[in-house]
Amino acid sequence: MRKKLIAANWKMYKTPEQAAAFFRDFLPMVSDHTRDEIVVCPPYIDLQIAIEAARGSNVMIGAQNVHWEKEGAFTGEISVTMLGALGVTHVIIGHSERRQYFNETDDTVNRKLEIALENHLTPIVCVGEVLEEREAGLTEDVLRRQCMRAFNGISARKAAKLTVAYEPVWAIGTGKTATPEMAADAHSVIRHEAGKVFGDQFAENLRILYGGSVKPEICTALLCEEEIDGALVGGASLDPVSFTKIVKY
Ligand code: 13P
Repeated sequence: MRKKLIAANWKMYKTPEQAAAFFRDFLPMVSDHTRDEIVVCPPYIDLQIAIEAARGSNVMIGAQNVHWEKEGAFTGEISVTMLGALGVTHVIIGHSERRQYFNETDDTVNRKLEIALENHLTPIVCVGEVLEEREAGLTEDVLRRQCMRAFNGISARKAAKLTVAYEPVWAIGTGKTATPEMAADAHSVIRHEAGKVFGDQFAENLRILYGGSVKPEICTALLCEEEIDGALVGGASLDPVSFTKIVKY
């Protein structure tokens, strides 16, 4: 049995003060929740306050991005060392918004994945097709390519903490959700690809989250699907009550 992981991706929302207010409300509502793992990924500027707020609780804190070098002249970037020093445990890599707006490529995803794993962070690698690719019947090819390139050169031993999120781009922030069957099909493709690179046993244990308009009203059907090992939640994770409903689906 794979323990499910429910992760919040706050994107570019909330000041430190707003982040602190979220945790004040959220933590007591989920303090007795042990069935699933819970991660909140706020903007960099909120990480410290989030870590202080969540210390000693059952909620872990992740970053939304990381650079592929440990340090250097990379204005505006943040390293694995910096995240580790703060107490960050998870990091989202290759989110479609980074691929779309910030030139993230399969190659930079691969390099970021490698350094995150080397530094004991739990990476959440995002893959997913855009609408035109789905309509052209290319979903499987896209997922295969993104996984193959992301996992390139990484050993199963090193990849132990790998987590993948299937986020169909057409479902992100649109209110359109993949059906549990569509998600399950995509997850099987990802699992199969992971199996080819890391072996069947690894693939069997790999957690694959679903992301894309996960809301309290529809989360139960998705999360009860055996192939779906959790959720990566955008908009609905900004409100503590709504995110709690998803955590407790
Ligand atoms: P929404 O839940 O707002 O569609 O965002 C999904 C997402 O991109 C999570 O990473």
